[in-house]
Amino acid sequence: MNVQSILKDVKKEIKPSKNEESQMKAIIDMVTMVTKDIIRPLDLDYTISGSYIRDTWLSDKKEFDLFILFPKEYPRGELQTTGLQIGRKIMEKIGGKYEIAYAEHPYTKGSFKGFSIDIVPCYKLRKIEEMQSAVDRTPFHNEYMKKNITKKLSDEVRILKKFTKSIGVYGSDVKTRGFSGYLCEILILKYKSFLKLLKAVESWKPGIFIDIEKHGNKERIQQITKNHPLIAIDPTDPKRNVAAALSPDNFVLFVKMCEDFMNKPSRDFFFMENKKIQPKSIIQNMKKRGTKFIGLRFPRSDTVDDIIWSQIRRTSRRIDGILKDNEFEIVGSLEYADENYIIIIFEMEIWELPSIRKLKGPPLFNEKHSKQFVMKYRNVGRVFVEDNIYVAEIRRNYKTPEDLFAHFFRKKPPELMEAGIASKIAEGVSRFGVINQKNIEKFVSENYEFRKTFDFYLNKKFA
Ligand code: UTP
Ligand code: MN
Ligand code: MN
Repeated sequence: MNVQSILKDVKKEIKPSKNEESQMKAIIDMVTMVTKDIIRPLDLDYTISGSYIRDTWLSDKKEFDLFILFPKEYPRGELQTTGLQIGRKIMEKIGGKYEIAYAEHPYTKGSFKGFSIDIVPCYKLRKIEEMQSAVDRTPFHNEYMKKNITKKLSDEVRILKKFTKSIGVYGSDVKTRGFSGYLCEILILKYKSFLKLLKAVESWKPGIFIDIEKHGNKERIQQITKNHPLIAIDPTDPKRNVAAALSPDNFVLFVKMCEDFMNKPSRDFFFMENKKIQPKSIIQNMKKRGTKFIGLRFPRSDTVDDIIWSQIRRTSRRIDGILKDNEFEIVGSLEYADENYIIIIFEMEIWELPSIRKLKGPPLFNEKHSKQFVMKYRNVGRVFVEDNIYVAEIRRNYKTPEDLFAHFFRKKPPELMEAGIASKIAEGVSRFGVINQKNIEKFVSENYEFRKTFDFYLNKKFA
């Protein structure tokens, strides 16, 4: 099949059906009616936002965003409490479930008949300069996209969203660090179609600068956004890089996948997120590497994704550092979390060291330092001279990462936090466990999400 017909095919599959559309519309109509009743006495306003209003939502998505608009004089604290009250009332009135979620400030995440509803309070502003929190931008996004995204473009956005979703880089959340829906919309506005975007990506370099409203002074902005691989200036806010959350590795992966698709177009590129992965081949692959995988498992408390993921990353880097300080070498690491557990795995290049450790000291002729060296080590080990330098042979603290972990994680939470382990992970330390390769095999066999994470780690290839 040629590219055009592949894309046509994909478009058909990801565009919500008439049936889905009317289902979505019915729910939105009902929610809006209830919302109006609830906010009327409070003299507030509302707007449906996000991909529904821009007609860029994907089939199966079943999510929409309801923004409650407050006058700008409203104190922020009250906006938050009233915003949550309104969210709760709406969900109670329609008979759905809800929980409180956090972006920059709390909002209500409702669920009803398989639909998920984000009810977000924000300020209704005339100018973006009056913005107090990132969510205040959304009504501006709505206005802008309503004007600029045509029917034809909205289908192209869908294709791009599906492509990024399929390769695992859709979403600006902390876990994914990828492309937000709004970023996909901006890229399509810039390049006019998915295919033209892919052609343009061929010549993308890290630091690529996209500014559809010609807001910016490129040099000044590039300085603020140093190390951002993609800079897409928000058409409604010159100070904002819409791609700020995109990580360098996801940028390179996206570019590589675009190239692969152009070289060998296939519809498979759009449907990889649920692909079959054989546990057996992963396990074989793992063993063939001749390395050793060692992991840590912590219970997960009821903490929202964005917070737990930033803590997981920080903690993983810290443990990586501790391993290196003890001369254990690392090939790589991967992180996984579900509602119950957090798992951090290290692939070791060196995982066993002898009981003794040899320390090179100063040259013999450096009297001052030699003396200090000798004083320091002569009672802990053997001190001698090789060629013209002092050498000490001492006992090693930990011969394996397992030894190290067993000792390190005996600490109490406050001590661990002092040592750089993030709070939500430190607090579960009494139930922490070390994971070995056999455990990993079991997780790979039994848990699809873990299998996918592990498969990605083993098989990632960006060039
Ligand atoms: P959503 O995360 O619901 O995204 O954010 P979406 O655009 O509706 O896309 P899907 O189809 O649900 O995945 C709702 C709105 O919040 C703003 C955007 O205006 C978005 O449309 N937003 C969200 C951002 O500006 N940046 C973000 O990183 C996330
Ligand atoms: Mn949405
Ligand atoms: Mn949403």
